[in-house]
Amino acid sequence: MDSIFHAMNPTSIPLDRFNRDSQVVFFTGAGISAESGIATFRDPDGHWSKYDPMKLASQAGFREDPDLVLNWYADRREAILQAQPNAGHTSISDFQKLFKRSVVITQNVDGLHERAGNQTIYELHGNIHRHKCNSCGKIINLANENMRELKRCDCGGRVRPDVVWFGESLPRETLNRAFNAVQSCELMFSIGTSAQIYPAAQLPFEAKSRGAYIIEINPEPTPFSRKADVSVRDDAGSALPKFYEEFHAQFK
Ligand code: APR
Repeated sequence: MDSIFHAMNPTSIPLDRFNRDSQVVFFTGAGISAESGIATFRDPDGHWSKYDPMKLASQAGFREDPDLVLNWYADRREAILQAQPNAGHTSISDFQKLFKRSVVITQNVDGLHERAGNQTIYELHGNIHRHKCNSCGKIINLANENMRELKRCDCGGRVRPDVVWFGESLPRETLNRAFNAVQSCELMFSIGTSAQIYPAAQLPFEAKSRGAYIIEINPEPTPFSRKADVSVRDDAGSALPKFYEEFHAQFK
């Protein structure tokens, strides 16, 4: 049976399969921040439709033109600070009052999950508001400094955003915690990700192989859609509040 539901159809989630102690994972990508006005990467108007990712999000790009890279991240950071979390982010906070054993595993670096009050957040790809030394890895506080200017660490290394670039490894401990959470989760929401970038994209497949029930929320189909138990063609800010109401009514 085709698992693709359109948002206006009643969903047939087996609500009685879950309770307040169920272990739940909210796995998110750039799409959950789209309704906050923050560009995604692979949508038609996304970052990678305008820029070469290798020039902006790689060691080679940073070596070749650090000013271009630092200015791109500063532009994104300023747009993010002007933006607000949307109903998708705040619904997760509502859900986390229902599901006490839930975590957020995000590919996003924008910090909107934290600003929305979400708890137990694993940032697989780092955080755009943090900086580190490109050589020794030390976290560097640039709080009131001009983040568009190239700074140097005490060790002489160049200071760069603490985000994961193409070809770089994800933070080991965070990735381990994410995989551990996925091993035991009973319900996963996969929200706003094109499911193309590994190892993050492996997480929903891993959860499915462990028997989790998976709800995908994305206006477009993804390589994971066929594996999802329900794949809703809807925006995160519209679908998540609807799902929350269904689960909240069940747990009353
Ligand atoms: N609600 C839900 N999903 C949405 C919405 C929305 N309002 N708007 C767009 N989407 C979906 C798109 O259909 C797309 O499938 O969000 C997805 C965004 O995909 P990408 O832009 O590829 O973002 P993401 O999956 O997070 O990319 C993963 O790739 O470039 C790297 O490091 C970057 O973390 C990023 C990683």
